[in-house]
Amino acid sequence: MPDSVELSDEAAELVFRVAQEAVRNVAEHSAAATVDVRLAAGPDTVSLTVADDGIGFDVAGLAGTPAGGHVGLLLLRDLARTAGGSLEIDSTHGRGTRVHLEVPAT
Ligand SMILES: Nc1ncnc2c1ncn2[C@@H]1O[C@H](COP(=O)(O)OP(=O)(O)O)[C@@H](O)[C@H]1O
Ligand SMILES: [Mg+2]
Repeated sequence: MPDSVELSDEAAELVFRVAQEAVRNVAEHSAAATVDVRLAAGPDTVSLTVADDGIGFDVAGLAGTPAGGHVGLLLLRDLARTAGGSLEIDSTHGRGTRVHLEVPAT
C-alpha cells in the first residue's frame, strides 16, 4: 500500500460518512465485543471495511429511511453507486456484520 493516496473530495467524504455510520451502527445496534476498521488503497480505488462480531441482522429487511435524520446504510449504498463505487453489507445472525466500501480514488 502506498504511503499516501490522492483522494477526490467526493471519495474522501464518502469514506468518512461510511466509517462514521458503520461505527455508529456497531455502537448502537451490534452488542459486539470487537470492531475492525480497515482502510486500503489500490492504484485507482480506496476501500473501507468495518467488521464487527455482534448479533448481526437481516440485510434483506433494511428499510429506506433511518431513524434520527442521518444518512443510513441504504442511502450510503446509493451514494457509493453514484460515485462509481459499491457498498456491500453482509450480516449473519449471531456472527456479526461487515460493511465494505469500494470507491474510485479520484
Ligand atoms: N453493525 C450492526 N449490527 C447489528 N445490526 C445492525 C448493524 N448495522 C445496522 N444494523 C441494523 O440495520 C438497521 C438500519 O441501519 P441504518 O440504515 O444505519 O439506520 P439506523 O442506524 O438509523 O437504524 C439498524 O436499525 C439495525 O437494526
Ligand atoms: Mg445507523
